[in-house]
Amino acid sequence: ENRQGFTPLVGSNPTLSASSGCAAQDLFAVRVFRYYSAQIGLERMAMYEQALIDTAKALVAPGKGVLAADESTGTIKKRLDSINVESTEATRQAYRNLLFTTEGAEQFISGVILFEETLFQNADNGTSFARLLADKGVIPGIKVDKGAKPLAGSPEEKVTEGLDGLRERLAEYAAAGARFAKWRGVIDIADDQPTDYCIHVNAHALARYAALCQEAGIVPIVEPEVLMDGANSIERCEEVTDRVLDAVFAELKKQNVMLEGMLLKPNMVIAGKQCPQQAGVEQVAQATLRCLKRRVPSAVPGIVFLSGGQSDELATAHLDAMNRMGPQPWKLSFSYGRALQAPALAAWGGKDENIAAAQQAYLKRARNNGAAARGEYSADMEQAA
Ligand code: 13P
Repeated sequence: ENRQGFTPLVGSNPTLSASSGCAAQDLFAVRVFRYYSAQIGLERMAMYEQALIDTAKALVAPGKGVLAADESTGTIKKRLDSINVESTEATRQAYRNLLFTTEGAEQFISGVILFEETLFQNADNGTSFARLLADKGVIPGIKVDKGAKPLAGSPEEKVTEGLDGLRERLAEYAAAGARFAKWRGVIDIADDQPTDYCIHVNAHALARYAALCQEAGIVPIVEPEVLMDGANSIERCEEVTDRVLDAVFAELKKQNVMLEGMLLKPNMVIAGKQCPQQAGVEQVAQATLRCLKRRVPSAVPGIVFLSGGQSDELATAHLDAMNRMGPQPWKLSFSYGRALQAPALAAWGGKDENIAAAQQAYLKRARNNGAAARGEYSADMEQAA
């Protein structure tokens, strides 16, 4: 809860280096100091490590996944525009209140990623959204990146910003109840993109973010998203996703990120939306698993996919197909934004009288994706009331 009593720890366990020219008693003192600091360090480290591991595992508990409700002010405006609702602090609060108070969603939703505004907002009942979720056994999380900006030197590409001041922000988010975080790097596919430069800087930033999160006792969700908006083939998506994951795990290792205390949030390996040749469900599942098995160490407890603009039912079918091909070295679940929310948003339309129908629509997607996380989804579940 209140983590202010915790002392920040860096990713590696710092030890003293004894200089070779030391007198014998100095060397002894160095050894004693090193021994005690290692004991204290290890104790603190053990406390953090266990909390990180427990939270990461809880987020991918059987049949559960994450709701990404962390749309930035710009993105939520687009979503609300689509139902002719003006985006104001009050309408954003009302929409998130609808989602988070849906009874029964906690059977399928382990955690919710919030935008900063929402983390510090109250629900209709007067408690903070973070408290409301935690009281239902749902873990509150926070998006901490500041968005993807044009990459200097390769301005067609993007790099995600937000590292400056992140250590201080993480302490505030932890005090407000956030126990996990998200940072999204964006990689676009074009003829001569992504460049190695773009992949490298995004991987580096993801690892810096992840190390800072773990230092603060917050589980990082590491999200390198290869976009699926282009006309590229599924093979090209696999090649790019492979390069990206290779770079991301190399950086995580260099920066001492504890793999057991993080989650990966990747795209699925899929043909671009404009590609005339769309792959079938089995092909997407096979290509995605092949790519992940080559690049994601089994120490990572879970992989929670983004939906990235897939239709809600297809996102569910793909996850289900991968789990049916299991067991896999990691848990495979979801961290969907649009694929969990689209039907609820449409059903709500900004009207109080539609809240119950919108909550039913959200609950249905949560239930069906929960089933897919177990490999127990079937298309008939879409017909059920
Ligand atoms: P989508 O599932 O809508 O892609 O959103 C997930 C997300 O959090 C993207 O960062």
